[in-house]
Amino acid sequence: MPDYTVKLEPHGLSFKAHEGETILNAARRAGLWLAFECGWGDCGTCKLALKEGEVENLFPEAPAIKPQDERRNRILVCQSAARSNLVLQVKKKDLNSPREDLPTKDHRGTLAASEVLGPGIQRLSFTLEGPANFIPGQYAMVELAPRLRRAYLIANPPGEEKVEFIVRYKEEGAASEHLFGLANGDHLPIELPYGADYYRESNRTPVLIACGAGVASILSMLRWLRMQDGQREKPRYVFYGAPSPEELVLLDELEELADHLGAELLPAIEHPHSGWRGMVGTVQRVIENSLPTPWEEYTFYAAGPSSAVDPVSSMLKNAGIRVTRIRAEGFGPGS
Ligand code: FES
Repeated sequence: MPDYTVKLEPHGLSFKAHEGETILNAARRAGLWLAFECGWGDCGTCKLALKEGEVENLFPEAPAIKPQDERRNRILVCQSAARSNLVLQVKKKDLNSPREDLPTKDHRGTLAASEVLGPGIQRLSFTLEGPANFIPGQYAMVELAPRLRRAYLIANPPGEEKVEFIVRYKEEGAASEHLFGLANGDHLPIELPYGADYYRESNRTPVLIACGAGVASILSMLRWLRMQDGQREKPRYVFYGAPSPEELVLLDELEELADHLGAELLPAIEHPHSGWRGMVGTVQRVIENSLPTPWEEYTFYAAGPSSAVDPVSSMLKNAGIRVTRIRAEGFGPGS
């Protein structure tokens, strides 16, 4: 497997990158921290100008890549691998010092259990060789196969020697095929933590909003808050939306956690369903109609597919909530 040299201009710093390895990872291995946030191709934080050389784009459909980036030869280093020696232009702001408080670490995950929770929805549990250090609301990058990396929200609380994901199957999706085809005992490289929309200290009351498989993130927060034994600000409302009742997975556990923390759980489905006695409507509509005012006293945490989370963020912004009080982790339609 050839190694390539990646030079950072104008600094003159350089490092080696293996074939097929992301440039972001290669830099991290060498102790150089290029700016990143989502780690999978959504935020654009890791976008850099490629001055010389050729890269392999590992995720051509990445939402952060725009047509003008191709014209200007800008690449996402979190989803690009070297195919020759490279020269990248890096501004000072794109070169960070390591996050000493919570550095991203490589783990070897071993699939320990998988469980069907609902239609096309599974819980997958991977044991690690050490504790998983992250903050509830963050996610892990999983290398499903060479050149196939995807991000999954972590559902368990930090500190355990495992990570638990709640994943929805996507028909004919390469990532789904790999993940759902794993057998107990199979190993995968897992890096964590990633993501900036995690639970923070605040003097405002948290409102948690789970959309579909985003319930993983909200579960991690609730499970962790229960372990804190009243030392943290507890949520008062937990919204949980899905298209149908069968897709509101792990409802009993959520109910028990919400009860324990003194929060009200408000599940809602999008499509009317006989026998359903809860609320009906999109999550943002249910919040609009049922969250008591004044909303200024809340901090909002939302997680789920962007198609559900983005309308929630927009609705909150339109209602005058400051962006710093909206932590919204949206992910793509899956693959
Ligand atoms: S880190 Fe978000 S697109 Fe690369």
